[in-house]
Amino acid sequence: MNILQINSSARSQGAESTRIADAIVTKLVDGRNDVSVTRRDLASDPHPVLDEAALGALFTPADQRTPEQAARVALDDALIAQVQAADIVVIGAPTYNFGVTVQLKSWFDAIARAGVTFKYGPTGPVGLLTGKKVYVALSRGGLHKDSPTDTQLMHLDMFLKFVGLGEDVQYVFSEGHGMGAEMVAKAQASANDQIAAIAA
Ligand SMILES: Cc1cc2nc3c(=O)[nH]c(=O)nc-3n(C[C@H](O)[C@H](O)[C@H](O)COP(=O)(O)O)c2cc1C
Repeated sequence: MNILQINSSARSQGAESTRIADAIVTKLVDGRNDVSVTRRDLASDPHPVLDEAALGALFTPADQRTPEQAARVALDDALIAQVQAADIVVIGAPTYNFGVTVQLKSWFDAIARAGVTFKYGPTGPVGLLTGKKVYVALSRGGLHKDSPTDTQLMHLDMFLKFVGLGEDVQYVFSEGHGMGAEMVAKAQASANDQIAAIAA
């Protein structure tokens, strides 16, 4: 079994979303010796943003790319290969300004590849990264769960479905990190309970 863990906090140390993602992976690995874990920390090892040069590279036919363009596309190819190889994907996803971090958006931009991870059929988009279980560790300063302010979850959920990763998604919430020490303790205890309830 292959687990892919994507950490998307801008903090490479002390991030709550990474703490939860780590704990989910620990829980999934517990008692098994057939698990391989691949981790990508997008703070310490960032993926480049989708800028004009990257778009130019992606839309240039492979046999006409410059070495720089080929190298840029290869960075996205590597992330696609990682997610294709995974049976389980665990994503640490803090809320920044009502959305995902730029680090996670860059990962989305890298793995959304027409004809490879999604295609359009007669009834609309078809995700191609199917057959995987996904866990998302959400860490927030405020309280957004089940409220119209949870624009991040809507985006995340829609994206995961778009590329076929939305078949079996479990969200773990740790909310209220900007609301004082008591709320932080409650949030962490609640996240720990949610992780404990994950079937090994
Ligand atoms: C730049 C920035 C923007 C943030 N925006 C929001 C927000 O829109 N809503 C919210 O509830 N918390 C917001 N927060 C608080 C974080 O979601 C919270 O601190 C979270 O625990 C960070 O996750 P991490 O510890 O995994 O990095 C923001 C924090 C930062 C640094």
